Amino acid sequence: MNTAPPDTRNALRPSLPATTRRYLVQWIAAAALCCAVAGSVSATAPSPIIIQFSHVVKPDTAKGKAALRFKQLAESRTGGKVRVEVYPDSQLYKDREELDALRLGAVQMLATSLSKLAGLGGDDFLAFDLPFLFPDRAAYRAAVDGPLGVSLLKKLEPRGIKGLAFWDNGFKVFTANRPLQGVADFKGLKIRVQASKVLVAQMRALGSQESVSPLIDVRADLTSGKLDGQENTPTNIYTQGLHDVQSHLTVSNHGYLAYAVIVNKAFWEKLPAELRAILEGALRDATTFENSIAEADHHKALDRLKASGKLTLHTLTPHEAAQWRNAMAPVYQEARNWISAETLAALPVLPGAPP
Ligand code: LMR
Repeated sequence: MNTAPPDTRNALRPSLPATTRRYLVQWIAAAALCCAVAGSVSATAPSPIIIQFSHVVKPDTAKGKAALRFKQLAESRTGGKVRVEVYPDSQLYKDREELDALRLGAVQMLATSLSKLAGLGGDDFLAFDLPFLFPDRAAYRAAVDGPLGVSLLKKLEPRGIKGLAFWDNGFKVFTANRPLQGVADFKGLKIRVQASKVLVAQMRALGSQESVSPLIDVRADLTSGKLDGQENTPTNIYTQGLHDVQSHLTVSNHGYLAYAVIVNKAFWEKLPAELRAILEGALRDATTFENSIAEADHHKALDRLKASGKLTLHTLTPHEAAQWRNAMAPVYQEARNWISAETLAALPVLPGAPP
């Protein structure tokens, strides 16, 4: 029995028009899920079960490296019964499309940012975008490793998605072609953010106009002047080459970027139990690896950005940080419209954080 899903790679490259890609995703999805499931129930079949793992960042990031670690562990521990095909850098799908593709079964696994998960109806994930929420990595870790993390992942299940793990990236910074120090510096700028209502509200609170666009388009949009600036982590900024097209970077640590590793629930649950257990073990080890390298990668990228000589770096002073927090405080009030009281109550209460 042929257990390989249809090859969607050429048909669905980002160069095709968005509508064509969307139709193709839907058309291919049914066949893909069918093949994947057929493969899963015939453990003795010679063809391996294929897991297509799509993500939108470069291979040389903590997420990119951990996806490859998962592939290596999964393939060796299942003795080749499972093949993991990793597609980095939006090779298969851009940000929003990859979520549709997962739900439809055209890919089986993603590691997507928590911000983007809100688009699947998991609005409580927006909590992680609240400005200045986490004072340090330990506070972020405590939030995802406790009952809150478990309950958030559970909220994806009615959408046909199973959440398996949290992967780290780190604190975000801003870049632009002008210094961003006082809040007034944001006025009139068009800043790229991920698709998140909280991030949109954050930019409006700072007096900027938000632009929600896929990561793969950001460099070109900064180059053409369609965008004035953007927020991301040093690793994404460095590996996407955004420092080549921006002149100023503010180390603001105003928000946190992290991921959930998610799978198509129907695919995952139909896997033979013994293979699923091996894959869960491989993912546990890849997760430990990812979370152990993210912080060092963050600092390395910041050092490389400094050493590039292309950007002027500024670290927010305590006075500037206080001004930013005040400007962003209304976002907390607005977020109550989207994030449940239960989730808000489970977040860390920070001295000096916006109410
Ligand atoms: C972004 O779109 O900026 C990030 O979600 C990319 C990523 O996956 O780190």
